[in-house]
Amino acid sequence: MTILVTGGAGFIGANFVMDWLAAGGEPVVNYDKLTYAGNLESLASLKGNNSHVFVEGDIGNYDTALATLNQHRPRAIVNFAAESHVDRSIHSPGEFIHTNILGTYQLLEAARAYLATLNEAEKAAFRFLHVSTDEVYGSLKANDPAFRESNAYEPNSPYSASKAASDHLVRAYHHTYGLPVVTTNCSNNYGPYQFPEKLIPLMIHNALAGKKLPIYGDGMNVRDWLYVGDHCSAIRAVLDKGRLGETYNIGGWNEMPNLTVVHTLCDILDAERPRADKSSYRTLMNFVPDRPGHDRRYAIDASKIHKELGWKPAESFETGIKKTVRWYLDNQAWVGNVTSGAYRQWVAKQYQ
Ligand code: NAD
Ligand code: DAU
Repeated sequence: MTILVTGGAGFIGANFVMDWLAAGGEPVVNYDKLTYAGNLESLASLKGNNSHVFVEGDIGNYDTALATLNQHRPRAIVNFAAESHVDRSIHSPGEFIHTNILGTYQLLEAARAYLATLNEAEKAAFRFLHVSTDEVYGSLKANDPAFRESNAYEPNSPYSASKAASDHLVRAYHHTYGLPVVTTNCSNNYGPYQFPEKLIPLMIHNALAGKKLPIYGDGMNVRDWLYVGDHCSAIRAVLDKGRLGETYNIGGWNEMPNLTVVHTLCDILDAERPRADKSSYRTLMNFVPDRPGHDRRYAIDASKIHKELGWKPAESFETGIKKTVRWYLDNQAWVGNVTSGAYRQWVAKQYQ
């Protein structure tokens, strides 16, 4: 038995593949297009491990996706593959429509064709787990209750609109064609191997380089932060015991304004890697014009997954953020490679 993971060379996907195998899961076929966000170097610890098979491919390519499914006969697909960065979606929405909407559609079609080749027992066991985001629910006011699974979808950015569309397609393929799907909607992840375009790794990267720390607007936008390992354990629980056709919100019960996140990072860096002139990293903070359409607040009510599947996060923000900063301090070579372009040259050479 195998599972097929899409987007397994990205931040959460790579963490998931490593966690899955470490937890004794069956072999993984990792299907990834290797965009700028996909880095095989993140999976270097699995080199020579036959339980990890990498296939370079686009979820939007029906033929390659179906051929991969037919060749490896997985018992589940976990779909992480997506364009994931809100700011990029504002500059260039086209890639988000291509991958998140059309790509998910082609992958669903390939899954449907593959399902038709399975026997009844295999069909009953098969799962298509779609990994989505809390951003599909839109923006909360300060005193609104946290997002529940029953909230209406109100996406505000091209990224969240494209993820919302993909969630609707996944739902429709269950109701119309009986595809055995489950969807997860998670809050902001942080941890090792996150590309330094997202808030936390960007701030660490800039701080260590002595560059300014750009804070959008007044810095009081609120996000719920979840350590990536906890997202991985939640996905394992949903894959194992999630009810078909259901959606599960995943979050850390850990709402925080961006300013608090940046202050925390600066304070940890001050302690772990003091600057030569002894000034605090906080002096690098720099307020810049706001992100267009910037959602004010996200908060996740994760009680359904807790009650039904017994899942809750293992890390607090305090423990998770310290681990994360230490990981970046210890893995500056990884950061250097993914930001210098050298990594992409390496992939071209290695996989030509
Ligand atoms: P990421 O940008 O780090 O990685 C995305 C991966 O998908 C990369 O390896 C990339 O090469 C691959 N990919 C992109 N387009 C592809 C295509 N057309 N075909 C195959 N592979 C393709 O993203 P991430 O932060 O790891 O997020 C993974 C998933 O989790 C996404 O679906 C995202 O919407 C969702 N999510 C992310 C967060 C978060 O905080 N990062 C929170 C909730 C949900
Ligand atoms: O909520 C889940 C989502 O979290 C995921 O679906 C997305 O894939 C993921 O990118 C993330 O989206 P955000 O837009 O919340 O994450 P980002 O790290 O880009 O920004 C977090 C907050 O920090 C947000 O309020 C914008 C702010 N920010 C971000 C950057 C990059 C800044 O103030 N300055 C910055 O330079």
